[in-house]
Amino acid sequence: MTTLQQQAYAKLNLTLEILGKRSDGYHDLRSVMQQISLCDDIEIDVGTGEDWKLECSQESIPQDSSNLAWKAAGVFYKSLGKDPQGLTIRINKRIPSQAGLAGGSADAAAVLKALNAHEGDPFSVQELADLGAKVGSDVPFCVVGGTAMVTGRGENVKSLTPMTDCFYCIAMPDFAMSTSDVYAAFDKEGSSRCPDSEAMARVMEEGELLQIAGYVSNAMEPIVAAQHPRIFEMKAAMLDSGALGTSMTGSGSAVYGIFDSFDMAAVASMTLMERGYQTYLSRNV
Ligand code: C5P
Repeated sequence: MTTLQQQAYAKLNLTLEILGKRSDGYHDLRSVMQQISLCDDIEIDVGTGEDWKLECSQESIPQDSSNLAWKAAGVFYKSLGKDPQGLTIRINKRIPSQAGLAGGSADAAAVLKALNAHEGDPFSVQELADLGAKVGSDVPFCVVGGTAMVTGRGENVKSLTPMTDCFYCIAMPDFAMSTSDVYAAFDKEGSSRCPDSEAMARVMEEGELLQIAGYVSNAMEPIVAAQHPRIFEMKAAMLDSGALGTSMTGSGSAVYGIFDSFDMAAVASMTLMERGYQTYLSRNV
């Protein structure tokens, strides 16, 4: 039996445009995504000689074949045409669920990467991202990582100039969002917000943090904020603490602020913690 270890990094949507509904029920999107240091720890025992098992430090997370990490391992070994002779996946969770931080997708991508390295890299990064697309829309980005322009359903990932160094304060309110519910609300109501991912990619090349922060924007934010005004409260508190820009990530409910100083991000984090939010300090990966 071999034990593998891999970190599973969360993502932020620096921009998120919803371009339209597709015939398969999914939506075409355009998003500049950023991988961040907030992570889960994944451990995999390969060749246990027993039935597949999944254990997670957080009880509310499914600990069976419905977990994306399990699905990723299944897709990997099916494509490889090999039986690993028993697998146990252990997840130490730090990334909050239903937050728009791709927690489940990050775990799935980490499993794909760890198993690929263990098996001698039979798949290229692109092939691994394609396998990831079978597991979930955010998995291809989590496989590629860094800073990237993501299009289609999430399966087209084009790396961009890496995001300028900065600090993020991420705040999680006491409600979580279901991605499919937020997309359904978008179909009904549309959005008043028009993010510009192409412009974000251009300013990313110039590397001026203030300019980059000025372009963070998420078309889903007004939809979630209309139901949950606490989104506004989190953003206002971050701006009061010196954030250069703030946005909800993905379909929510987490909100992040971009800071050029660790101290300011830490003050924002303390302020929001005192108001009852769970907070995380993070950086680019
Ligand atoms: O692919 P994933 O399982 O992460 O998607 C969760 C849900 O989010 C889908 O069932 C769909 O309702 C919605 N979704 C979408 N368009 C995307 C990604 C997700 O409509 N590009």
